[in-house]
Amino acid sequence: MCGIVGCIGRDDATVEVLMNGLRSLEYRGYDSAGIALGPSMTVLRKSGELDALTETVDAEQPVGTYGIGHTRWSTHGPPTDRNAHPHTDENGRVAVVHNGIIENYADLKAELEATGITFKSETDTEVVPHLIAQALDVGEDPATAFHNTIDRLEGSYAIAAVIDGTETIFAARQGSPLVVGVGENCLYLASDIPAFVEHTRDVIFLEDGHRVIATTDGYTLLDESRRPVDVAVQTVSYTAEDTGKSGYDHYMLKEIHEQPTALRQCFSGRSDALEGTITLEEIDSIPQPNAVQFVACGTSYHAALYGATALREMGVSAKAYLASEYALSPPPLSLGTLVVGITQSGETADTLAALRSAQSRGVSTLALTNTVNSTAARECDHAVYIRAGPEIGVAATKTFSSQLVGCNLLAEELVEGRRDLRPLIESLRNLPDDVQSILDSSKAAELVEEYGDSEAYFFIGRGTNVAVALEGALKCKEISYEHAEGFPAGELKHGPLALVTPDTPVFAVVTGDDERAKKTLGNMKEVQARGAPVIAVTDGKSNAAEIADATLSIPETNERIAPILANVQLQLVSYYLANALGRPIDKPRNLAKSVTVE
Ligand code: AGP
Repeated sequence: MCGIVGCIGRDDATVEVLMNGLRSLEYRGYDSAGIALGPSMTVLRKSGELDALTETVDAEQPVGTYGIGHTRWSTHGPPTDRNAHPHTDENGRVAVVHNGIIENYADLKAELEATGITFKSETDTEVVPHLIAQALDVGEDPATAFHNTIDRLEGSYAIAAVIDGTETIFAARQGSPLVVGVGENCLYLASDIPAFVEHTRDVIFLEDGHRVIATTDGYTLLDESRRPVDVAVQTVSYTAEDTGKSGYDHYMLKEIHEQPTALRQCFSGRSDALEGTITLEEIDSIPQPNAVQFVACGTSYHAALYGATALREMGVSAKAYLASEYALSPPPLSLGTLVVGITQSGETADTLAALRSAQSRGVSTLALTNTVNSTAARECDHAVYIRAGPEIGVAATKTFSSQLVGCNLLAEELVEGRRDLRPLIESLRNLPDDVQSILDSSKAAELVEEYGDSEAYFFIGRGTNVAVALEGALKCKEISYEHAEGFPAGELKHGPLALVTPDTPVFAVVTGDDERAKKTLGNMKEVQARGAPVIAVTDGKSNAAEIADATLSIPETNERIAPILANVQLQLVSYYLANALGRPIDKPRNLAKSVTVE
């Protein structure tokens, strides 16, 4: 969580570069923001969204030739001015920004307080500038003071620091993302590439333990033993345009509309329509696992539920686990189990912990992720990319759809035996057009006009549509702040039915016309009997539309692909509901895109 940024070598443009960088990292946290500039060691920080800091910067017109910045998602201490980063030592000689959690901060703080230091904030981060300052006081040179301080930290961090009189940015990475952008005679540092992609696409992905010392003359990369390391500079393919809003009111809406492209990219080059085969080259040497355990959080967990259901339907023992539970209560693992982490960012701390727990028990791991070179991609034995492109909106949309396609590709690659996949391949090929037709014709906005002032919203489905029901509810509560719950349709009668009233519309996801669909029709009638309006999200294969009070239609397709289409309708419902309620759709309260703390 939190976004950090730094730049050196941009002279008069420094403030602008830092502020623009923070703007594109806001998805990582928006409780407060701040910058520190050298050589003047000016620190400006403000609680609230970045606009508050922008006002201060506009008013004070600070100058600097290098600097660091931070946008915060609070962990230690509420979002106040004094808890905003950068944090400084008592004399303002050292300023530090940090993303992550310093787990031994309480011990370090006690030690520092015992020497007479008074803390100004409630953050874990503040120990860092004090430790560096103390090291300077005993005569250590700035680089040694920085390294010795980093050596004492436990936990996860991406840290950047400026030290008075050095014209240098010092940075370190351990467990939280940090990338370096290499420009002409200048260097950028950030939690994520969008922060500097308008200036350079040449990137160094730092690994845990790496440290960077950047000056106007160049940069040095070191490992945790302070030995120089050589990490290749890579040129990333996306541009500043990919990370803009392209005329849409919100990133979420833009990303919903990018789904046809995202899905095409995800599927492209991974099938042979004539042969009826699907191949994921990245993993085509993996033998069929005896069992698959998925670990993931939030929306990605819903993709995991879908993936596990699909694999079970193919006869493979598979189960989805919430990553935050998995690491601390690990289920039994047998030899030949594959543990698959589904994570858009590839940086979610809970998912990384679950994957590491599986790795420590000797099984093979695979990351299904959107982020090339992310920690999950690098740490797992295998990585499969969903190729959805950058997703900035906190609410995951195009990446969820792409994860579901990714799960299908994964399942078909992993499960051995000859199957004729031509019908599935055809549906996957048609998927971008099918999504486009929903985007062009959806009645979601009208539906919100009719039901948008309800007391709560429920979502039900069976089989792979359970994942869609849960995701529909998560999206709804996340961006509209309305009460929303998703249930396997058959579970309603075991408790949740007590919540159903004429003021609680129920979205029933009914695709196909198999036994599950038929039983869901029965559940629709049960809620109608309690007076709740029912909205069917359906492909028209069953008579769900006839039973329902309203319908959101999806094109007919393969039964495995239909949930992806149904989900697009529910994304639009949540979007229009949140919009009608005037919510800050791309920055829902208390949330952040990438959750890098456990
Ligand atoms: C949902 O819209 C959220 N963005 C959230 O639930 C997210 O899916 C979760 O935090 C996991 O993130 P990841 O996919 O990057 O691991």
